[in-house]
Amino acid sequence: MTATGQRTDKLLAIMESQPVIPVLKIDRVADAVPLARALARGGLPAIEITLRTPAALDAIRAASSEVPEALVGAGTILNPEQFAQAEAAGARFIVSPGLTPALIEAASKSDVPLLPGAITPGELMAAADRGYSLLKFFPAEQAGGAAFLKSLSSPFAGIRFCPTGGVGEKNATDYLSLPNVVCVGGSWVAPDALVAAGKWDEIEALAKAASTLKR
Ligand code: 3PG
Repeated sequence: MTATGQRTDKLLAIMESQPVIPVLKIDRVADAVPLARALARGGLPAIEITLRTPAALDAIRAASSEVPEALVGAGTILNPEQFAQAEAAGARFIVSPGLTPALIEAASKSDVPLLPGAITPGELMAAADRGYSLLKFFPAEQAGGAAFLKSLSSPFAGIRFCPTGGVGEKNATDYLSLPNVVCVGGSWVAPDALVAAGKWDEIEALAKAASTLKR
């Protein structure tokens, strides 16, 4: 176990395995399995189920246990309690919009890798000091977009990002073409309306298009 809590090799393997990680807000547990299957069929097996709904932990549990081809992570993890709940539900990676001493402590006791968020130079330096070199950049578009992220690549050459927030099919390649971006995250591959209507084939097609985006 390293001191940092970020299991960089595991996390990098996940982030390099696909250009887009679907960020999912699941309202009905019953949607988790068909949704994870559709995304995996479309070439996006790694998914982030956010803890933004009461169904989230059960959705992580269901997708992890019933969809072996999926690699299910948990997102919007704000504190150690949620970290532990997500890990117990089967999450294989943990995503947080930020990084706190409490989360660093929780991650240091777990084998599950943490992708924490950082935006400002000071936040990047604090994260790097704790051994975190792979970071989420959120909310990407609102925080300054690809131009902002590009300007971090020279002073922080060792830090790489998964930007999320306002990233979609139109601007994904603006981010993916940057030297300090490994992958992007976004909800556009699983729009609420398609999930609510159970249009899994359409979600598979969106995933297929996203999975072939160039980096
Ligand atoms: C996240 O938590 O990563 C974002 O909320 C995803 O943002 P999007 O819905 O704009 O893709």
